[in-house]
Amino acid sequence: MSGPLLALRDVTVGFGGVTVLDGITLDVGRGEIRGLIGPNGAGKTTLLNVVCGIHPPHRGDVLLDGKSIVGRKPSAIAAQGLGRTFQTSQLFRGMTVLENLMTGLHRRTRTGLLGAAFNLGSYRAEEEQAEAEARKALEFIGMAEFADRPGTALSFGQQRVIEIARTLIGDPKVVLLDEPAVGLSLNRLAEFDRLLRRIRDEKGVTLILIEHVIRLVMDVCDRVTVLSTGRVIADGTPDAVRNDPDVIEAYLGKELRARHTAS
Ligand SMILES: Nc1ncnc2c1ncn2[C@@H]1O[C@H](COP(=O)(O)OP(=O)(O)OP(=O)(O)O)[C@@H](O)[C@H]1O
Ligand SMILES: [Mg+2]
Repeated sequence: MSGPLLALRDVTVGFGGVTVLDGITLDVGRGEIRGLIGPNGAGKTTLLNVVCGIHPPHRGDVLLDGKSIVGRKPSAIAAQGLGRTFQTSQLFRGMTVLENLMTGLHRRTRTGLLGAAFNLGSYRAEEEQAEAEARKALEFIGMAEFADRPGTALSFGQQRVIEIARTLIGDPKVVLLDEPAVGLSLNRLAEFDRLLRRIRDEKGVTLILIEHVIRLVMDVCDRVTVLSTGRVIADGTPDAVRNDPDVIEAYLGKELRARHTAS
């Protein structure tokens, strides 16, 4: 299918009379790694929440693969191929890493509770398949040996990577990542950069990445969209965005201005 994989058209959201997203229009192409940056409170997480169906927009449309997903439940949108991680860590307590990953397959499980009661054989087969896929996802991220550890016993950075793996085993077309690099040490960033590229290249997943770690965004993203107070103020290649005077002023400020003049 041609056309953008994900399209937002004039998306507007307000909370209590305050406009948080104001006429957002953007296209994300298939196989793209898109960065979404902007100052605190710019509306980045709200935009992700609109796309995955948590907040319906007050105006505008969101299209996944050319079809409007506005008004659909988050679970229905997930089933159409949209995965996401959250800004705060979301692993379940009291579950192993493997069990945490298996919860990501929930949306694809065909045998519901009633089916399970009548058809134990098929329920077991699905559980086994879920476990096999969870192990495969752990291998993909290079953390197979962590399968039986309690999820919350892992380092914060490792938990974030497990959360990404959990979105992948649902076989999504697009995954939204809300500040996934928080908690990663600087020397882990290169490894994380490679993981994001492998997800795109080997699994064919389109990624949208909210991140404050600008170095990661500029290195890994094909295009970067910059939000400021609920509006898109720039959208382009990392180089174009890095050199955009509005971005330098509104967001990246002194730090980038200094680097900009030094280079
Ligand atoms: N459920 C809500 N009810 C009321 N206001 C909200 C709600 N969610 C977000 N906001 C407000 O909307 C604005 C945008 O918030 P959002 O969380 O989308 O920003 P963000 O760009 O993700 O910021 P950060 O970088 O700090 O995560 C903020 O002013 C926030 O206080
Ligand atoms: Mg946020």
